[in-house]
Amino acid sequence: MPDYGDCVININGRREITVKGGASLLATLLGQKIFIPSACGGRGGCGYCKVKVKEGGGPILPIEKPHLTAEELEQGVRLACQVKVCNNLSVEVPEELLNVHAYRATVERITDLTYDTKELRLKLIEPESISFTVGQYIQLKTPKYEGNATPVFRAYSISSPPSESGVVELIVRLIPNGICTTWIFQHLREGQEVRFNGPYGTFGLRQTERRIVFIAGGSGFAPVKAIIQDNPAEINRRTAKFFFGAKSVRDLFHVKLMQDIHAQYPRIEFIPALSLPNPGDVWVGEEGLITEVVDQRLPDACATEFYLCGGPGMIDACIAVLHKKGVTDDFIFFDKFV
Ligand SMILES: Cc1cc2nc3c(=O)[nH]c(=O)nc-3n(C[C@H](O)[C@H](O)[C@H](O)COP(=O)(O)OP(=O)(O)OC[C@H]3O[C@@H](n4cnc5c(N)ncnc54)[C@H](O)[C@@H]3O)c2cc1C
Ligand code: FES
Repeated sequence: MPDYGDCVININGRREITVKGGASLLATLLGQKIFIPSACGGRGGCGYCKVKVKEGGGPILPIEKPHLTAEELEQGVRLACQVKVCNNLSVEVPEELLNVHAYRATVERITDLTYDTKELRLKLIEPESISFTVGQYIQLKTPKYEGNATPVFRAYSISSPPSESGVVELIVRLIPNGICTTWIFQHLREGQEVRFNGPYGTFGLRQTERRIVFIAGGSGFAPVKAIIQDNPAEINRRTAKFFFGAKSVRDLFHVKLMQDIHAQYPRIEFIPALSLPNPGDVWVGEEGLITEVVDQRLPDACATEFYLCGGPGMIDACIAVLHKKGVTDDFIFFDKFV
């Protein structure tokens, strides 16, 4: 590898750091405890690691272009994972990212929610508490383990409310052969220490008078749970429907929790829907793809805000249904689990 020597990175015109050249801007900033979100491990696939590079970034790469709007291209926004530090740079990092910290925590509890979904309760060690807004996510560090040679970070939405500042709960669904989820399911044990950084993201409840519709698939339940538990009285006042898509009865979880919330706050309605019930499933609820159920059960979409969370396919299909109903993007908020 060529020796790029020392390079100076000016951050937001206020701070200069001297680093050894040769690595990506993402990895270099991480080494300086400046945490830029990254959902794909720096492969140029997620588009989460955007920063403005004002000087010294070199030409934009073809892999970056699909993630950047015309306006971002004009402003010099780049994917930090694709910019190599090989000379001095001047960059602008979103201010809120400078408040992201690294945390050590103990796995206090692991609960099997289904055969392929676990809930992790992490008790913070250092720092002892975290300040976040509801709906945000953290990046969990997966260490080296047999079959994984390099530590990687993966994003997980916080499913507990911010009032519990000494704890972070996550809901994680196993992705077959996935690096982080295989570690969580096969290697991670209660009492073990883990590391993460955060918080990131802006998927919180907007303070308006509009009715609320949540639509989630699988582990997309996590931030919706946090939002509802954070302030159920306010959500009840505005009225909310929560459409939750699962394949079959064995993929459902936290149904009792949602029923209890509904009993106390009757204007928060939980609508689970099964897309592929098993022949033996005893089920009297909604059936069909979550998009079909939303389409049928939501004749009136006016004066409503929509909060979507889950895989990209589900989100894109739901947005198409909402557009068909005349909902504009101003009232659709989502977190895609890319
Ligand atoms: C903002 C954000 C919040 C997230 N929150 C959560 C959360 O709360 N709970 C949760 O379980 N996940 C969440 N995710 C997804 C999570 O970050 C990981 O992508 C996921 O757990 C897979 O990681 P892995 O290391 O096990 O798989 P990887 O090693 O990254 O992937 C292995 C293979 O599986 C594919 N793959 C990755 N994800 C999926 C998927 N969802 N479905 C099908 N194939 C996939 C990849 O393309 C790759 O080919 C979130 C993602 C983002 C961006
Ligand atoms: S980290 Fe995913 S695109 Fe850069």
